[in-house]
Amino acid sequence: MRTFMNAVSTQARRALSAVWSPAIRAAARLRTLGTGEAAALAVATVVLVVGPATVFAYGRWMDRHVVVVHARQWQYAPGVLHATAGVPFRIRLESDDVVHGFRILGLDAQVTELIPGKSVELTVTAPKPGTYVYMCTTYCGLKHARMFGRLIVTSP
Ligand code: CUA
Repeated sequence: MRTFMNAVSTQARRALSAVWSPAIRAAARLRTLGTGEAAALAVATVVLVVGPATVFAYGRWMDRHVVVVHARQWQYAPGVLHATAGVPFRIRLESDDVVHGFRILGLDAQVTELIPGKSVELTVTAPKPGTYVYMCTTYCGLKHARMFGRLIVTSP
């Protein structure tokens, strides 16, 4: 029994040292880093930690700035949107009845098929202040041509 316990503890010690030795050696190496290695470590830290953290924070920020716009025969709700010039914002489009379209004139924002039950998200940035018109671009019935809204963009 005693021999068995010894064997177990020897194996446990070996397993532990297999895990810790490289870590201890790496830690010892850290203390003797040259300038180049320190710079590389700093770059790696930025890439592995600061980068993803920034992306995550940006994602959270964008989530709070999403405007849900409903399309239905024959209007958008809301019919007026507000934004700040140069600041990206997100529009989540949803159709409440038939297939509609969406386009903001003068901006890179277009959805050709807005299918009921499937929301579509767009990130839009208006470079300059002003009033932009958004309109339906897919025929959706009698008053399709009158289906539009306004995006009012103010300076920051
Ligand atoms: Cu809605 Cu055309």
